[in-house]
Amino acid sequence: MTTAIRIESVTKMFGELAAISELSLEVPAGTFLGLLGRNGAGKSTLIKMITGLMNLTQGTIQVLGEPMTPKSLEIKKRIGVMPEGTALLEGLTAPQYLRFVGRLQGLSDEVIDNRRRELFEVLELDPGAKTLIADYSYGMQKKTALCAALLHGPELLLLDEPFEGIDPITVRVIKDLLLGLMDKGTTLVLTSHALDLVEKLCPVLAIIDQGKLVASGTLEQLKEKHAGSESLEEVFLNLMGSGGEGKLSW
Ligand SMILES: Nc1ncnc2c1ncn2[C@@H]1O[C@H](COP(=O)(O)OP(=O)(O)OP(=O)(O)O)[C@@H](O)[C@H]1O
Ligand SMILES: [Mg+2]
Repeated sequence: MTTAIRIESVTKMFGELAAISELSLEVPAGTFLGLLGRNGAGKSTLIKMITGLMNLTQGTIQVLGEPMTPKSLEIKKRIGVMPEGTALLEGLTAPQYLRFVGRLQGLSDEVIDNRRRELFEVLELDPGAKTLIADYSYGMQKKTALCAALLHGPELLLLDEPFEGIDPITVRVIKDLLLGLMDKGTTLVLTSHALDLVEKLCPVLAIIDQGKLVASGTLEQLKEKHAGSESLEEVFLNLMGSGGEGKLSW
């Protein structure tokens, strides 16, 4: 079994704050990893380092067998990423943006047009849209970012909260799309707070807290370790505690 992502003792400092702290994790090729953690746990920071969008402070990350740094252009061509905040060119329309991204990836206009048509059809985006991405709804922007991440047929796909702000019908479509990619051998990583969705999608899970890996494995393995947990949500609550009371004094 080959390894798609090998993270070895990685630390990321923002000033005094260790957003990621000596974290090690391996993601085997062909699997679908759900990366979980509370707000501020370090998930987006980790995704940015794995995809070469951000330098790390210490440690090493290998992606598809090569060391990943912000300068690793050849590996970046083999991966797809939907980063936090979507990072789109908002002055373009969605079809223009897909054309731009496709050309950067070295695809011919014919291939771009065919794939774009199919992606827009599946995700119900208008192929002739004249509306700028800046004027798209939040969910439409997320869908555009997903199309851009998929366009070049990446071997490894990393999605930071792909279901956030997405309507329930489209959530189902995206779920099917991602499971179809896994069946074809694509390695997938996603972050999400929707634990019921993650439970259905991801055969492997990693939970981080304050920049440290606190649990990893299959749902069955996590349930065994945390006796009495019937679901991923219960495993998560058992690990993290159930938080405060949620009451105001006024
Ligand atoms: N560019 C930055 N400068 C300073 N601190 C940062 C920066 N990016 C992230 N952090 C800090 O690093 C920590 C981890 O942030 P990160 O965005 O990775 O969390 P997350 O797990 O993705 O949270 P969420 O579920 O809310 O998206 C937080 O304390 C955050 O404030
Ligand atoms: Mg995040």
